[in-house]
Amino acid sequence: MNIMRKKSISQMISESNKKALSRSLGAFDLTLLGIGAIIGTGIFVLTGVAAAQHAGPSLIISFIISAIACGCAALCYAEFSSSVPIAGSVYTYTYATIGEIVAFLIGWDLMLEYLLAVSSVATGWSAYFQSLLSGFGIHIPAVLSSAPGAGKGGIVDLPAIVIILIITALLSKGIRESAKVNNIMVFIKLAVVILFIVAGVGYVKPDNWTPFMPFGFQGIMAGAATVFFAYIGFDAVSTAAEEVRKPQRDLPIGIISSLVICTTLYIIVSLVLTGIVPFAKLNVSDPVAFALHFVGQNTIAGLISVGAITGITTVLLVMLYGQVRISFAMSRDGLLPPVFSKVHPKFKTPFANTWLIGCIAAIISGIVDLNTLAELVNIGTLSAFTLVAIAVIILRKTHPNLKRAFKVPFVPVLPIITVFICGYLMISLSKVTWISFVIWIAIGFIVYFFYGRKHSKLNDEKKSRVSSLPFFIP
Ligand code: ALA
Repeated sequence: MNIMRKKSISQMISESNKKALSRSLGAFDLTLLGIGAIIGTGIFVLTGVAAAQHAGPSLIISFIISAIACGCAALCYAEFSSSVPIAGSVYTYTYATIGEIVAFLIGWDLMLEYLLAVSSVATGWSAYFQSLLSGFGIHIPAVLSSAPGAGKGGIVDLPAIVIILIITALLSKGIRESAKVNNIMVFIKLAVVILFIVAGVGYVKPDNWTPFMPFGFQGIMAGAATVFFAYIGFDAVSTAAEEVRKPQRDLPIGIISSLVICTTLYIIVSLVLTGIVPFAKLNVSDPVAFALHFVGQNTIAGLISVGAITGITTVLLVMLYGQVRISFAMSRDGLLPPVFSKVHPKFKTPFANTWLIGCIAAIISGIVDLNTLAELVNIGTLSAFTLVAIAVIILRKTHPNLKRAFKVPFVPVLPIITVFICGYLMISLSKVTWISFVIWIAIGFIVYFFYGRKHSKLNDEKKSRVSSLPFFIP
């Protein structure tokens, strides 16, 4: 059995054409879809830790470095999605270009990204929810308000568990966010971020920006590896490939413009945030609202909390949906057990899959703290980006004539730079994260060799091809 066997690109494209999903999305919708998936816990929560513990006021440089890594990876994603316009993200792309085992590992990495992103984003949601409640004088008992590792005397983060279960219930019944709802949410998110900038800029004291690099270059890189989380989500745009009117043109536009808009906002927010509050005080779980409380703007801080809660909810939906979609695709290909691709007879959704994933994500969000989770999400995503960059180089060699509406400039230099930046960010993550990552990959290998390889649908195809061969040989 060949572990590097591939799915055929033309077969996948013709299969996807047969399914005939309505092609109604354009570049503008895709940009909003991207922003909807990107702006969330990263900017509203993790900026605080990144500034206080890693980068200080040089957080802005961390954001720029992460943006460069994501920008390079975004170009690679754009080339893929414009040449292989089928749903399923990078797992599917790799299955078509590099081979089964790498596709499986990417899918496995993406599970680390999406599953734990659900848990971590919910933890951020919980922080803002509690900040809002405390504005009304309501306090959740400390033991039920955070995970043990968060250092706040908590045993379990109850609000995080509850919000994941609510989202799971909605998704399992097939309630997907419509483009219209997404657009409203995106508008709220953008309004909140802009409100913060406008309300805060007058309180900026340039003195707070010195010392600019309190933890040196290493601090900047550790900060970049942390805030990388804030950019995750632009890849979700590529999963909508089959519903786009002109995928070859609109996907690259959607991916790149959502990233450019978010980067610009993040840079301004980090400048204002570190300008209003001395960086050492930012070690809180709701830094954006905290900064405005700090200067006495309590009403605006409350409004920002409401906006953040609404905005983070959409990220949760997208991430859980992404996780279900990937495990569904892997199961349909035979690489994971059939329970993940079983469709509920009434709701027409992968009901069991959704609940299984939702419950696991809920348990993790209840007992593991945000920083640990975010690092794991980042290492999973960075490794997937690295593989995508390598896949672009391989695809140019193996399929030189494939129609590509968008081409990464300076191949192989730019993909190689992507590999280096992502690799450098990966080594800036902590040892615990690396150990967990290696264990996760090891489990992946075991699942692949003991289950996936034997049950892969490509085995059947080979059998049926072999059995039908005599009819075609004259
Ligand atoms: N980028 C997403 C967030 O910040 C994952 O919540």
